[in-house]
Amino acid sequence: MGQKKLIKFAAIKAYENVLEYPQDIQGKWGAYFHALRNDNTPIVIENLTLSNGIVENRIANVNDSLVNDIVCPKLTIELACGRGEYAVGLGRMFPDENFIGIDLKGNRIWKGASIANKEALKNIAFVRSQIELTPNYFAKNEVDEIWITFPDPQLRWSKAKKRLTHPKFLRLYQQFLKNGSGKNSDVNAGIVHLKTDSPLLYNFTLKVIDMYGLNLIYKTDNLYAEPTIDPRCLIKTYYEGLDIAQSNKIHYIQFNIDKDLPLELDEVLKEAIKDIPMDAGELIRMQAEAAREKQKE
Ligand SMILES: C[S@@+](CC[C@H](N)C(=O)[O-])C[C@H]1O[C@@H](n2cnc3c(N)ncnc32)[C@H](O)[C@@H]1O
Repeated sequence: MGQKKLIKFAAIKAYENVLEYPQDIQGKWGAYFHALRNDNTPIVIENLTLSNGIVENRIANVNDSLVNDIVCPKLTIELACGRGEYAVGLGRMFPDENFIGIDLKGNRIWKGASIANKEALKNIAFVRSQIELTPNYFAKNEVDEIWITFPDPQLRWSKAKKRLTHPKFLRLYQQFLKNGSGKNSDVNAGIVHLKTDSPLLYNFTLKVIDMYGLNLIYKTDNLYAEPTIDPRCLIKTYYEGLDIAQSNKIHYIQFNIDKDLPLELDEVLKEAIKDIPMDAGELIRMQAEAAREKQKE
């Protein structure tokens, strides 16, 4: 592993605003951010190294008696955050709200966490973890909004279950996103935002929304051509700049996970998405990925 990566991994271990596979944090984010904002109550993080080498953080002084007393501001999470441009950008825009970026790669998280530290943005934190584990970190209704920013589109049909808007993932988000139970629907709560340059992921997500009867709030297959643009959508991420899909268009969807997602429909979905076409850039990308995988074999 490169020296630079090792330095970044070591740095985030000492950052108060980065938690790696945190334990005992469900329902405590209001208290965590209260401590982070309040410099005279530094957060004590105990690092536990597990037998598989993974370091888990236990928050030692965000104690249970504090948790219930603290009114939680709105909490938004950015999934597949990479360098965390959305967590940081939204944190700057909305200083009274709290933001958490989540990604597996510590060296990418380091970038956003370092910027937040440098600018003393105390409403932004990062969790290093697999997205699959997010229900362990948030209590029911604890999260107000989710941004999914330029996730890997998982172009191959056989990998559709890995797409971050597959019902398999939406069922996970439903466990902690407001309005996630499918009851007492309030379309102003529990919003998921997807920003992508992949037409395939965009059309796949629309298919999921349609098939499972979810509430579609907004969609565009060419965000920057719209007459009015939500200022939050103007935040640009690293991968947005790369334009890997070569679509030259940014696609954006806002929706609620306001219905139960029956498991039986997943098989129907699997067949229904076979026909979603790829555009030329995606086709080239998939062929290149397949060639790389063949080389590895
Ligand atoms: C294409 S990058 C996008 C990064 C960033 N949002 C951007 O737009 O620049 C996708 C990111 O998703 C992360 N990722 C992919 N699958 C993940 C998973 N299951 N759990 C956590 N992170 C994941 C990768 O580590 C990577 O940083």
